[in-house]
Amino acid sequence: MDLAEEVAMTAVNMWSEATFVAAVGDAVWAPSIHNSQPWRFRRTSDGIDVLVDRRRGLPVCDPDGRAARVSCGAAAYNLRLALAVAGAPAAWTAGTGDALVHLVPGSRRPATPLERSLHRQILRRHTNRSPFADVRVEPGIMVQLAEAAGDEGGWLHLVDGVPALETVALLTRKADAQLRADPAYVAELRQWTLVADDDVQGIGRHACGAAPHDAELMTRRDFGGPAQEVTRDPTPHPVIAVLGFHGEYRVHDVQSGMVLQRVLLRAADLGLASAMYSQPVEVPAVREQLRLALHRAYAPQLVLRFGYAPTTCYTNRRPVEDVID
Ligand SMILES: Cc1cc2nc3c(=O)[nH]c(=O)nc-3n(C[C@H](O)[C@H](O)[C@H](O)COP(=O)(O)O)c2cc1C
Repeated sequence: MDLAEEVAMTAVNMWSEATFVAAVGDAVWAPSIHNSQPWRFRRTSDGIDVLVDRRRGLPVCDPDGRAARVSCGAAAYNLRLALAVAGAPAAWTAGTGDALVHLVPGSRRPATPLERSLHRQILRRHTNRSPFADVRVEPGIMVQLAEAAGDEGGWLHLVDGVPALETVALLTRKADAQLRADPAYVAELRQWTLVADDDVQGIGRHACGAAPHDAELMTRRDFGGPAQEVTRDPTPHPVIAVLGFHGEYRVHDVQSGMVLQRVLLRAADLGLASAMYSQPVEVPAVREQLRLALHRAYAPQLVLRFGYAPTTCYTNRRPVEDVID
């Protein structure tokens, strides 16, 4: 064995098989578009690859795989967090081909208190599609979420004031109507939603939430749930933020996923519920209108809602053996 091979072996040995499998076990609890879980994980001679699983793509709502890359980025963030909490943090670079992220061992160090508390939220965080309570989210809390995005190199644009909120709501409604007018979009959505609650992929019947109501300011994606009992959104002014990255190459989609997961875990850590709206970024013309409305240099990646709400039903994940190459 030459020196380079020896260094590579030492690097990989820093992550035992048990550490690797446990970290993948955390990674899979990342959010993904329609809970499609479009990821695979592979040990390499010098580290770990996070790969996009093209067989699990959504050709209608995500034709160029952007949302799948965001989802893989979120999973890669969980993986990094899990390795850091194991005392063996990773440095990462962009991978090649289907390998979107390549992790290599960094210097051993104890996890920080923040890493530990974010890691504790991995299994608690979930997408909450129930009505949020009419309770104000303190501005200081939103600033902490924006800082969490910045810490991972991205941005979180807080949508402040009624006119700005109404613009984002209008664009979301417009995009949603445009998407729903396409029978192929509706058929794809039906494949992934209202699945049995114990299914290991897709969004289970109880996690889908009720059907969106016309009176809701922010139009949720219609997953085919039952009609709502309440006739109005109890939160007339929902707390909305738009997430993005400083760039529009494919690697920036992956990095946006890391930013997303850091923000969502931080939100959970601060006791907030969160919901996502990707309709306005799935229609290219509307995505551009949203970018212009926010005066941003780069296209937004996801619209997020934060607030207070009781825990709702969780989605499931495929077993770890199914996602390890
Ligand atoms: C890129 C991306 C886009 C998403 N878009 C939406 C959306 O438009 N509406 C929605 O309700 N959830 C959306 N989600 C949330 C997923 O449906 C959710 O993460 C998945 O079902 C797993 O559930 P969990 O987040 O509760 O773990 C999105 C997630 C990602 C990563």
